[in-house]
Amino acid sequence: MRYILFLFALAYLPGRAQQGLKDYYRGYFPVGVAVSARSLTGPDTNLILRQFNSITPENAMKMGPIHPEENRYNWKDADAIVDFCVRHRLRVRGHNLCWHEQTPAWLFKDANGATVTKEVLLQRLKDHITAVVGRYKGKIYAWDVVNEAVADDSTRLLRNSPWYSICGEEFIEKAFEYAHAADPDAQLFYNDYNTERPEKTERVYQLLKHLLAAGVPITGVGLQGHWSIFEPGPAALRTTIHRFAALGLKVQITELDVSVYPWEKQRRQHRPDENDEFTPQLEQRQADQYKQMFAIFREEANGPAAPAHGPLTGVTFWNITDRHTWLDDYPVLGRKNYPLLFDTNGQPKKAFWEVVNF
Ligand code: XIL
Repeated sequence: MRYILFLFALAYLPGRAQQGLKDYYRGYFPVGVAVSARSLTGPDTNLILRQFNSITPENAMKMGPIHPEENRYNWKDADAIVDFCVRHRLRVRGHNLCWHEQTPAWLFKDANGATVTKEVLLQRLKDHITAVVGRYKGKIYAWDVVNEAVADDSTRLLRNSPWYSICGEEFIEKAFEYAHAADPDAQLFYNDYNTERPEKTERVYQLLKHLLAAGVPITGVGLQGHWSIFEPGPAALRTTIHRFAALGLKVQITELDVSVYPWEKQRRQHRPDENDEFTPQLEQRQADQYKQMFAIFREEANGPAAPAHGPLTGVTFWNITDRHTWLDDYPVLGRKNYPLLFDTNGQPKKAFWEVVNF
């Protein structure tokens, strides 16, 4: 008996030590991470493979990088990421097909530099989506089709981007239709930030309700999850998930990080008198926030281990470790941030242990 126990320990314990986020959450939802092509051949590759079972290209599939000229696509990085995922049997979330940022210079202009018409712009959107979604058909299970179309200004519904000023609201439903035609099996998401602030929850809800009523093929809503140790609280997070679920939509957390600073929109330089150390107090507050959020994610999860058949079908982190995060430069240039579950040496933080000990 003792011998059997010993053999069992030998086989089982090292396995447990090797467990990553994806294993702890196996019965709940896939756990993903946003990456560059470069990070898949570098020092973080093992950590990625151990911890995650879903990948989002952080920038490689955005329209600017992947479609730099009207008649030229740059598939290199996107292909490398998708190939890596096929080889390692990881899911891929495509990000994104229609956004007001990181657009290529040619997109909204004709050969004479004049703003294009709505017809031309919708045709360009169609060509783009057909090419990109078509290329990865069957390999990308979900797409962020439209990103951040709702305005920051709470008095209006849609952001006054060139997409909107040229096409009106129609570009949104068109983007979903083109994506659905290019891959009828792909899940299609509307993705946005600050979705847990009540006034924004409401406007995103109105938009999605309107799209669904018009028969637009939309599977779910992506809550980006660029959160902080200050927000959202548990009630706002639960309410948001329930509200979208009531529309019959799936919900995914698509870009999770927990900043140690309050939300700011205005870009600025880091001031030398501002402390950007990761203090033990911040580490504890962040661990508490992550713990609370993941308890809610488990309650709302869709997988077989979840208490109910909830709407939440995925959680993706935006970057791998605190060594490098987009928040080091956003919105405050040169201010170090520590928003992830792995520290600057790639080691699990207090927050990691809170997320996996349940
Ligand atoms: C960010 C990337 O992480 C940065 O590398 C890039 O410079 C700017 O975009 N919302 C989104 C993501 O939907 O695409 C953004 O990604 C972060 C905010």
